[in-house]
Amino acid sequence: MVRAVSALWVFGYGSLVWRPAFDHQRCEPAKIQGWTRRFWQGSTDHRGVPGKPGRVVTLVPQADAECWGMVYEVAPSDRRAVLANLDHREKGGYARHEVAAELKTGERVDALVYLATPDNESYLGEAPLDAIAAQVRESVGPSGPNIEYVVELARALSAMGASDPHVEALARLVQA
Ligand code: SIN
Repeated sequence: MVRAVSALWVFGYGSLVWRPAFDHQRCEPAKIQGWTRRFWQGSTDHRGVPGKPGRVVTLVPQADAECWGMVYEVAPSDRRAVLANLDHREKGGYARHEVAAELKTGERVDALVYLATPDNESYLGEAPLDAIAAQVRESVGPSGPNIEYVVELARALSAMGASDPHVEALARLVQA
């Protein structure tokens, strides 16, 4: 018997919001509960280099929080290739987890999310926002300037009507 391969949902909250760069058949703004977005992950393979890491987002558990991002539906036929692509792209400290995402329509889906937890070697953790901004301004990696990551994320969240004070404040600081 051949078992059917189901569609895959991917929840993006960082670069995957504004630059998915993988095949999908549908994408919608969506939110997850119990998580907040923070620029606490170091990046030595995209927005910085070894010895001079940039700062990118991860999700931090927070009971009363919600986090808006973009959810993508990947066709069963693209599932394997998309997972291989994302595993490679997110290899700098992120691991696969599952979250329940709620679309603006009220529809709920179980989605794959890439999360960087404090036990990964690139994790930087909390720092004053002006120190994070200074690090972002100075950092460049193979994917481009770190500032671009912050500004494009802020722009994409604003375009979907999502508020994220941490991202908005950092975007203001890095552009000041
Ligand atoms: C994501 O966007 O969902 C993961 C983090 C990143 O690639 O910026």
